[in-house]
Amino acid sequence: MTDRIVLGIESSCDETGVGIVRLADDGRVELLADAVASSVDEHARFGGVVPEIASRAHLTAMAPTMQRALEESGLALSDVDAVAVTAGPGLAGALMVGVASAKAYASALDVPLYGVNHLGGHVAVDALEHGPLPERCLALLVSGGHSQLLLVEGVGERITEIGSTIDDAAGEAYDKVARILDLPYPGGPPIDEQAKLGNPEAISFPRGLTGPRDAKYDFSFSGLKTAVARYVETEQRAGREISVPDVCASFQEAVADVLTAKAVRAAADLEVDTLVISGGVAANSRLSELARQRCAEAGITLRVPRPRLCTDNGAMIAALGAHVLRTDAKPSPLDMPANPGLPV
Ligand code: KG4
Ligand code: ZN
Repeated sequence: MTDRIVLGIESSCDETGVGIVRLADDGRVELLADAVASSVDEHARFGGVVPEIASRAHLTAMAPTMQRALEESGLALSDVDAVAVTAGPGLAGALMVGVASAKAYASALDVPLYGVNHLGGHVAVDALEHGPLPERCLALLVSGGHSQLLLVEGVGERITEIGSTIDDAAGEAYDKVARILDLPYPGGPPIDEQAKLGNPEAISFPRGLTGPRDAKYDFSFSGLKTAVARYVETEQRAGREISVPDVCASFQEAVADVLTAKAVRAAADLEVDTLVISGGVAANSRLSELARQRCAEAGITLRVPRPRLCTDNGAMIAALGAHVLRTDAKPSPLDMPANPGLPV
């Protein structure tokens, strides 16, 4: 056997991603290219992703992004040995652009096609940065669309949901709170910056679903968002100036506290010794700091891919594709559908 080149295509939301990895005989995966085009600016004025705009943007960005990835890798399309693509979950129209493109490339090249789960990709990507993943780990996936605790087995092939948000995703809460505070979209980075200048104990915001009768591993962020809105309204009505850094720091502390407490508790309960935190919100400075502290106390190994790999990209799909290829799994048929509601 020689090394195999795996192409990964991602289009489940607002990022068009094409990644290329090299799968070595011994199972190691090496990142060769990671090209991403984002339509985030086109959604900014709507305060969230508009599906129709995302689909159209994928259609125009896909071929140029593929070209960029090939240039970055120094390879030709004919060097590709397998094509992996996000089959779901995600926005239907957006997924279809990636799936149709992947089918075209795979059939033109006469190489196997693998439809893979986007969430598994968010975990498998860490192998590109920190080496092979253990067979069993816990993943805290926190992005604009997801806030989930997942038991991951087989490097992202078998995923069991342990808990999830019952309302807003963590990233969504960041985006909504940014809107309340007149900060730009997406809200995570500006709130993270402001929070560094504020006092996390200035305002006591609620920790959702942490009561004794609440679901142990589920999250809720909508009450927190409402609490921030109410606080701002009350202060403004009373003619008091609000401290944006204090509001950001206190909000951020509430999010990081709940996410890390529940993740560490689940890891202990399930006897899992590795926690992977991924998704756009994993870039949050306070979340990774608190997770590092609490994991160290609990004897859990923490793995957080670098921010570029945490957000949606094609490299994560190529990484999971490489793993699936290695297991000699049956390729997906060329009439494979996009599967927006793909279960984890
Ligand atoms: O994974 P991602 O790029 O896209 C999906 O939602 O799938 O995640 C985007 C989300 C946005 O809601 C954004 O506000 C949030 O990740 N985000 C952050 C930070 N950077 C991005 N949230 C908190 N702190 C950050 N530093
Ligand atoms: Zn994602």
